[in-house]
Amino acid sequence: MNSIQFSAKNTLTPVKDLKKISPKCDKKTQVMKKALEKGYNDDHASIYLPSDEEGLVTIKKVIAEKSKLKPAAIIVVGIGGSNLGTIAVQEAVFGKLYNQLTTGTKIFYADTVDTDTINDIRLIIEPLLKKGKRVILNAVSKSGGTTETIANFEVLLHIIKKYDKNYRDSVVITTNKDSKFELLAKKNKFSTLEIPVLVGGRYSVLSAVGLFPLGLIGIDIDELVRGAKDIQELTLSSKAINNPAAISAINLFLAHKQKITIHDHFVFSNDLESVGKWYRQLMGESIGKEFNLKKKRVFAGITPTVSIGSTDLHSMAQLYLGGPYDKITTFISINPRSDLKLPTMKAYDALVPKIQGRSLQELMDAILQGVKNAFKKGKRPYMEIELGDKSEYSIGMLLQLKMFEIVYLADLMGVNPFNQPNVESYKIETKKILKKK
Ligand code: PA5
Repeated sequence: MNSIQFSAKNTLTPVKDLKKISPKCDKKTQVMKKALEKGYNDDHASIYLPSDEEGLVTIKKVIAEKSKLKPAAIIVVGIGGSNLGTIAVQEAVFGKLYNQLTTGTKIFYADTVDTDTINDIRLIIEPLLKKGKRVILNAVSKSGGTTETIANFEVLLHIIKKYDKNYRDSVVITTNKDSKFELLAKKNKFSTLEIPVLVGGRYSVLSAVGLFPLGLIGIDIDELVRGAKDIQELTLSSKAINNPAAISAINLFLAHKQKITIHDHFVFSNDLESVGKWYRQLMGESIGKEFNLKKKRVFAGITPTVSIGSTDLHSMAQLYLGGPYDKITTFISINPRSDLKLPTMKAYDALVPKIQGRSLQELMDAILQGVKNAFKKGKRPYMEIELGDKSEYSIGMLLQLKMFEIVYLADLMGVNPFNQPNVESYKIETKKILKKK
């Protein structure tokens, strides 16, 4: 279990402060251990996902059934917690350019009601459908009533229906049991997959929400879950002081107390950008709260951001190294899938010396080390995560570690990590406006 390395030695937090707070995290660990025994019948239900072998068997059955159709593409229709985890894993493991490279099932995401994006998806799938190829439509909505998801689903279903008389076999609805969406799916004889009611959207990547589409395009979902399970075992069996999720949470908490209110994930791999975007929702919705657990108005929150190394050094480094001391950074580095070297062309030595014949990764590593040194010199606090590879196992570990981190952090900040009352309020307002019109 060594494909993830964590370090918080450069956060400028005195060890005595860490030690002072860690017993609170130890208590939370005990709470989570007890919650795990209750399966899905607890607010911490998502912790049970990597242990749900029965659920995995059901998901695999649907994957096997739909794979028999040899689909040319799958469209995941969902937003927020219903697609961010899937995108994060797909891009991290298979790469951002997966669709251009694969000879298998391509994957598209329909989240917001952006006419041109949805129309572009139409332009891609119509020629496939015309050739008699199958396109799987996987609508994912926990509530079953999200405006964007239902609207996009209807539009895309209408297109698929036009060309595919067996279109019912191409549809999979992932939703809460007994939601109106599930009832509609059953009526229409669409396949359904269940999201356990107490598993929140942003914690649902290891449920059917992520596992079905990921499994369909060939991601090894057993390995993804195994990585998550290993981190879970480590987290729930260690003292907080030896537990990366808790240490990270304590550092974020102490930083927040010193008015460091931005947490940037600086990922040194293009393919991890969407992991950063997934984390934005996880932290944003879990920690950003008007009221604390004692119902006191607190307007709590840490703003999550994501930066891409080395691209964003050419746009953001000035701010990060010269601007206000309001950020704590987590650098994430990962070994690439491939190996590319520069040729040895002496004439180019005059342009950038000492790079001839070296691998691109060597350059990336040097840049990352240079940035860390500059952060250290500038007394900019940072943590580090190193992933051995872009395997499903490593990514499963990373996502599970981050979900635990947020649960610990919410506990330290005294807020509920599992609700999102203010998100609901804008959804209600939108529905009111649409009703009027
Ligand atoms: O975290 C959440 O619960 C939300 O952000 C949801 O993921 C998002 O709004 C989509 O909701 P649903 O899955 O119900 O369509």
